[in-house]
Amino acid sequence: MRIGIDFGTSYTAAAAYIDGELRHISFGGDSQFRTAVFIPEKSIDWTLFQPDAYEQQVRDNLSASTTAYTKALGEYDEATSKIRFHYRSLAKNGDITQEEAQARISWATSELKKPVSPLAAEIRRATISAARRQWAYEQREAGRASSINVDESAVFGEDAIEEFFWYEEGRLIQSPKSMLGFRLAAPQREAIVKIVSNVLKHVRRAATEQLSVDVTEATIGRPVVFRSSMGPEGSDQAVELLREAAHRAGFKSVDFLAEPAAAAITYHMDFPESQFAVVVDVGGGTTDIAVGHVGGQAGAPELDASWGLAKGGTDVDLGLSLRAVMPLFGKNDCRLLAPFYVDAAMVSDQNRQAAFRKVDVDSIKAPYKKRLLALQRYGVTVRMNRDVERLKVALSSEAEAYVSLDYVQKGLRAKAGTSDLEFGYERYMRSFNELLSQVRGATAGRTPIVLLTGGMSRAPYIAEAVKRHFPGCEIHHGDASLGVVEGLAMHAATVHKTAFDAHAK
Ligand SMILES: Nc1ncnc2c1ncn2[C@@H]1O[C@H](COP(=O)(O)OP(=O)(O)OP(=O)(O)O)[C@@H](O)[C@H]1O
Ligand SMILES: [Mg+2]
Repeated sequence: MRIGIDFGTSYTAAAAYIDGELRHISFGGDSQFRTAVFIPEKSIDWTLFQPDAYEQQVRDNLSASTTAYTKALGEYDEATSKIRFHYRSLAKNGDITQEEAQARISWATSELKKPVSPLAAEIRRATISAARRQWAYEQREAGRASSINVDESAVFGEDAIEEFFWYEEGRLIQSPKSMLGFRLAAPQREAIVKIVSNVLKHVRRAATEQLSVDVTEATIGRPVVFRSSMGPEGSDQAVELLREAAHRAGFKSVDFLAEPAAAAITYHMDFPESQFAVVVDVGGGTTDIAVGHVGGQAGAPELDASWGLAKGGTDVDLGLSLRAVMPLFGKNDCRLLAPFYVDAAMVSDQNRQAAFRKVDVDSIKAPYKKRLLALQRYGVTVRMNRDVERLKVALSSEAEAYVSLDYVQKGLRAKAGTSDLEFGYERYMRSFNELLSQVRGATAGRTPIVLLTGGMSRAPYIAEAVKRHFPGCEIHHGDASLGVVEGLAMHAATVHKTAFDAHAK
């Protein structure tokens, strides 16, 4: 059984294509997990934790939230009817006109905060997460840390970030893919291979369990160009390290497929006629474009050329962080210079993070000193980065948004609006527009259809830039998060089918 793995900068997903059907591997109920790993210093045997034991607690919490919601909704309804009554009375008495009354009612009711109905899935997640923390705390207190190795106790995805907060002693790594293409000394190289192999082992275990076969073969996606400090050599090194990590994770046979080619496969199945197409995949760390023929009778898309940019959504996060969040830590208002804040914001770069934590902020004025000391605690930058990302995502559909930074200082909030977002994405969009011009040049005189995928393709500014460069072209939005992994799974099953059949005989 060969599975497809999209080991993404931001999210990792896996799927298998079995008897003409896609099967997504589930990670705690989701089809993907955040590419973050927490490795506690002292091992805990997580297999002993039983989430099912907390079902009653989940039900209790849900019922309490529903009661609170019903009460809040009642209060809200009462307040709105009071407002209506008040202004209608004024209108009735002739103090104001009917129109004025209506306008004031609209304004006053819009100022009230309508309670939001509690989401069962979210309450479940929060309850289990809290129970897990408490459980692990008790394990530690009881001095029962067993002698199992680090691999067994590693925690993945959102839980990695949550877990870090009670445990702290350990390593929290986000977006290890971003490090694969950098010049690495031997110990760093070893550490990164180990981290990536942990992630891939997590995937292999879940797949093996859910597909009920020992999964030892995979087709792994790769960007056209990895983020790198060494030019094209960086991408070669990244593939080599990924291969090594996959082998250590127990995959005996591994091959790689360019991510935009994988995305094209998903579309290929959907189009009965062959179409000249441009596939654009804008992810967290990289942006990939491929051009060729998609759809029709050929067994696979025929791609003639591809382009890659070692930048993506995390670069927009960086821009937004520097603009809207780092001023809360004294950026532009104390002696610390911009590079210090860049170090703090670039959470996937371990060297920069170490440099940031080493800076002495003792003489920095209030209120920044306290906030910086909180931010310098190990792992806090990662958590804040996740909130910056949330801000960016919210700004895709809202003109303004905020996130709470309570864990830095009680009551502290980071707010951002459209102009902050524009500032945040400016640098990335310059590169993206250049890349699009290049691709447009290469397809001049033709009218391709444009196939958009990758998490960032949900951002309106990305779709608009694509539209501007390809006016009059049909634009298709695929599954932004799972288009690549689905293509990888189909490739894994079809290209390797003969080998698989031969093996099965
Ligand atoms: N609604 C949204 N608005 C803006 N950005 C979004 C939205 N939804 C997701 N993103 C961004 O998309 C990115 C993740 O996309 P995706 O899952 O395709 O990346 P990846 O596959 O992990 O990364 P890569 O392919 O670069 O290695 C993140 O930067 C995330 O913040
Ligand atoms: Mg991707």
